[in-house]
Amino acid sequence: MVHIYRLLYALFVLILFTLFGCKEHDKKLTSEKELPSKPIGLKQNYKDDFFIGAAVNDALIEKRDSLGLELLKTEFNSITPENIMKWMHIHPGKGVYDFSLPDAYVDLGERYQLFTVGHTLVWHSQLAEWVTEVKDSTELKEVMEDHINTIVGRYKGKIDSWDVVNEALKEDGSLRESVFYELAGEKYLEWAFELAAEADPEAQLTYNDYNLTNPEKRAGAISIVKQLKDKGLKIDVVGMQGHWNLKGPSLEEIEESILAYHKAGVKVAITELDITVLPYPWDLEGAEVSQNFEGSEFMNPYPESLPDSVQRELADRYQSIFKLFLKHKDKIDRVTFWGINDGSSWLNGWPIKNRTNYPLLFDRSYRPKDAYKSVLALKN
Ligand code: G3I
Repeated sequence: MVHIYRLLYALFVLILFTLFGCKEHDKKLTSEKELPSKPIGLKQNYKDDFFIGAAVNDALIEKRDSLGLELLKTEFNSITPENIMKWMHIHPGKGVYDFSLPDAYVDLGERYQLFTVGHTLVWHSQLAEWVTEVKDSTELKEVMEDHINTIVGRYKGKIDSWDVVNEALKEDGSLRESVFYELAGEKYLEWAFELAAEADPEAQLTYNDYNLTNPEKRAGAISIVKQLKDKGLKIDVVGMQGHWNLKGPSLEEIEESILAYHKAGVKVAITELDITVLPYPWDLEGAEVSQNFEGSEFMNPYPESLPDSVQRELADRYQSIFKLFLKHKDKIDRVTFWGINDGSSWLNGWPIKNRTNYPLLFDRSYRPKDAYKSVLALKN
């Protein structure tokens, strides 16, 4: 008999618990639904601060990456072409241009009303082979005139911002030996900016480079800005690429750099942001950088998924960086990520091929990561 009472009592408690449990759950769902709708997407949340951009690859431009396109529409309001406007692709032979993908890229920017970046006019890397055969400064100037007039002229009023010169500096802040520098010295920088400004006076003009938080290189970038301004030439922006890692550069170095470029009279854009979570070969004590690390488990520690602790570290790093960007939003024009999602990042293949990296805000399935939430949380 006692057993039956106990059983009935337990049943009664279970029914009560189930009823209350359900009610609580329903209430939560209803109140979530009743919340005033918050703006969705990074671009909406950051619309009063700076553009939020992404580098786009061939698959996206050719509309083969439909999930990537969806993300582009909801999250970003600026695009940069990852490769297709580089010299070797757009101007592969003397007087020979290939505008098929660049036209599709510009069309994408117009259709989605995106702040559209041109990357890049003058760069020693991914240059067409024929340019290295140019004989003297006169010929070089003619070649640069043709290149810049043709490309900037074609997209006048459609490309909003040009990376006019890319990566002209060495780490010590002096100019890199390239075909441009060898034939024309520092003059080639002036030609490039002058030609771009003439071809589209309305376009924003940028000097773009990596490691621009390093004091010596930063000084080099500032002297380029000064050189151009002293000659009365137009330069609007210094583009800090932002290929960073979990520890460096420090927030102090980033902040000092933003302030220094602002003081030099230009805006700052973060043009190629990504944060690697993998080890660099050159950080290994005693490692030969030339050593082949492909296939090394030590150098590719997260082939399946990123551990929660590192996911959090990445989210915190992104949050503190964006907090700093917001603090200096009056000096920052645009923050562009170098890719849409982890799967398409160049960092899966550099500096070691075939690794699994996690440097962006969206995962391989195009889902927002903790890092995305931490960047958005700053605005809510
Ligand atoms: O398209 C070919 C493909 O046909 C071939 O099968 C494959 C085999 O390796 O290569 C493909 O080309 C690669 C291309 O990316 C497209 O994926 C090139 O080898 C590779 O060198 C190229 O790398 C690009 C790199 O610039 C070249 O320097 C990266 O995608 C691109 O993200 C990277 O972007 C640069 C910025 O322009 C300037 N700042 C640094 C940044 C990172 O290096």
